[in-house]
Amino acid sequence: MDAFEEYFKGAMRSENVLLDKITHYIIKRKGKQMRPMFVFLCSSVCGRITPATYTAASLIELLHTATLVHDDVVDVAHTRRGFFSINAVWKNKIAVLVGDYLLSRGLLLSIDNGEFDLLRIVSTAVKEMSEGELLQQEKSRLLNITEEVYFDIIRQKTASLIAACCKAGASAAGANADDQLRLYEFGLKLGLAFQIKDDLLDYGFGEKIGKPIGIDIKERKLTLPLIHALKMASASERRELMGIIKRYNTDAVKVKYLVSRVIELGGIDYARAKMESLRDEALDMLRHFPKSDSRDSLENLVHFTINRKK
Ligand code: IPE
Ligand code: IPE
Ligand code: MG
Ligand code: MG
Repeated sequence: MDAFEEYFKGAMRSENVLLDKITHYIIKRKGKQMRPMFVFLCSSVCGRITPATYTAASLIELLHTATLVHDDVVDVAHTRRGFFSINAVWKNKIAVLVGDYLLSRGLLLSIDNGEFDLLRIVSTAVKEMSEGELLQQEKSRLLNITEEVYFDIIRQKTASLIAACCKAGASAAGANADDQLRLYEFGLKLGLAFQIKDDLLDYGFGEKIGKPIGIDIKERKLTLPLIHALKMASASERRELMGIIKRYNTDAVKVKYLVSRVIELGGIDYARAKMESLRDEALDMLRHFPKSDSRDSLENLVHFTINRKK
């Protein structure tokens, strides 16, 4: 990861004074860097880490960072990774442009290294992420979301990139098509569990998570705990709870009541159980690969995905 860090910094460097300032700000407040870890470990379980693994890890972390910069504009979120978000410091206009810059630097990185398989894997994921975020926006306006649609959204907006990490790692190691596909499927399951965890963290039961909590209800994003609670509620209570989401989504007292009903109706437990069964399915898929230190580490990272506190 130390070697990766240097490579990653270089991939962001800019001559432009403002961009240089902002990319420094981003590098200083790095995230958990789980996606690069998935790239490296998937290369490793397929036999070896290669220069292409570094390219893949950097490209994906760049694109991930770009989408977070944009996501905070979309979600009107003013904190990220324990500090002010880019839109909070430099406003939306600059944040949109910086997101585009990071995206293009990522794409160029794979072109400059002649990694066209990688470019295809990652561009497909980025396309799906945009579609997922758009579907989510549409649903937050209409509020007619089912569990099935929720899973479509999180598969597109989050799991597709994590699956791309795993496939790209395998591809960089020169793995065969079967193993690439197997790790892609592994990444999809893991990515779904990852986003369910993120949605649980938004309920704020843990410690400080470094980004705003309760923002999903505020933005009328219906996530799994709430979707399940609405399904379990009686027709009249469903109307009452929907009324809160529609009209009182920024009223702290009403939202607190809504959260207490989500808990009582079993929404949190339900989401947790789904997340754990996805984790187990993901772990099962890893058994195909021979036991090794890297497979152990990858398993640990799967556990971290759902036990993390931020
Ligand atoms: C946040 O991802 C965006 C989601 C897909 C939920 P991470 O939780 O990996 O963000 P950082 O990079 O560690 O800040
Ligand atoms: C993930 O959803 C967004 C992306 C895939 C970019 P969220 O909106 O829940 O992510 P956070 O909570 O802001 O990190
Ligand atoms: Mg967000
Ligand atoms: Mg979230």
